[in-house]
Amino acid sequence: MSIDRKNILVFGPLPPDQLARLQAAHAVTVAFPKTDAAAFEAALPSAHALIGASHPVDAALLDRAPNLRVISSVSVGVDNYALPELQRRGIVLCHTPGVLDETVADTVFALLMATSRRVVELANLIRDGRWTRSVGEDLFGWDVHHKTLGLLGFGRIGQAIARRAALGFGMPVLYHARRPVDLAAQAPELAGKAVHTPLPALLAQSDFVVAMLPASPSTRGMLNAEVFAQMKPGSFFVNGGRGATVDEAALLHALDHGPLRGAGLDVFATEPLPQDSPLRTHPRVTPLPHIGSATAETRHAMAALAVTNLLQALAGERPAAVYDTSAG
Ligand code: DGY
Repeated sequence: MSIDRKNILVFGPLPPDQLARLQAAHAVTVAFPKTDAAAFEAALPSAHALIGASHPVDAALLDRAPNLRVISSVSVGVDNYALPELQRRGIVLCHTPGVLDETVADTVFALLMATSRRVVELANLIRDGRWTRSVGEDLFGWDVHHKTLGLLGFGRIGQAIARRAALGFGMPVLYHARRPVDLAAQAPELAGKAVHTPLPALLAQSDFVVAMLPASPSTRGMLNAEVFAQMKPGSFFVNGGRGATVDEAALLHALDHGPLRGAGLDVFATEPLPQDSPLRTHPRVTPLPHIGSATAETRHAMAALAVTNLLQALAGERPAAVYDTSAG
């Protein structure tokens, strides 16, 4: 056995070809904390590296993994990781930006369209045997094309959504981000088509407000009653970022008492969504089980990037996609 062989703990599913890449170079234990907690706990003390997703890695878990040097997350979002703790302990965190942008943008656009055109509700009408006459006014949807899209967050995924809206659907796009993006240099196809806009103006003018915000100390609960109250009467809200950015009670109030006509949600404050959440059954909510990046091709690409990151980190190289844990 090579003296450089390290102990890798795989805590989320990996496709067989990507698992094999790890096994070719290192000692690998596969143990998922939710389904095999004992094996996961037993492997933690000797683990030099973790790879997986969708499990909180907090200070207490890190205390039980004193040899940990690197975590490779099969996700772009890093809200499951105690970033200051990782920084303090010198643990490298890798993630998977870039490979999922177009897929998440597809999901968000599908959700936006399904919500405004009532796709799920009308499919269920047929499934339930209730298509007994032509659909009337009570079941009409609302147009998407040429309506105004307001994007909260304008990173790579936000820009992929903006391209679909502006170039495919003729929609004026407003975006709110910490600073304006130099579109002429970074995304010339959107120059003049997506406009950096102060939040109050974006909320007042947008027919569709799409949130693509990460969960961070500055965004948690940002979409609150005050924000929903400023949205245009009859508008739609879509969340493809993180559920923690939304005050769900305020969202329900905006659906039931105005100004929102509907909401499409791929993410929730608590996931999986609790059975007793009113968002599960609300007639004007289209809920999805956090599937933004969940296509066969993209989940494979994310796993491949996460494995590459991990192998590079364990070889002492700079990983392809390392997250700056000091950025918060
Ligand atoms: C991500 O990669 O962060 C997506 O939300 C899937 O978890």
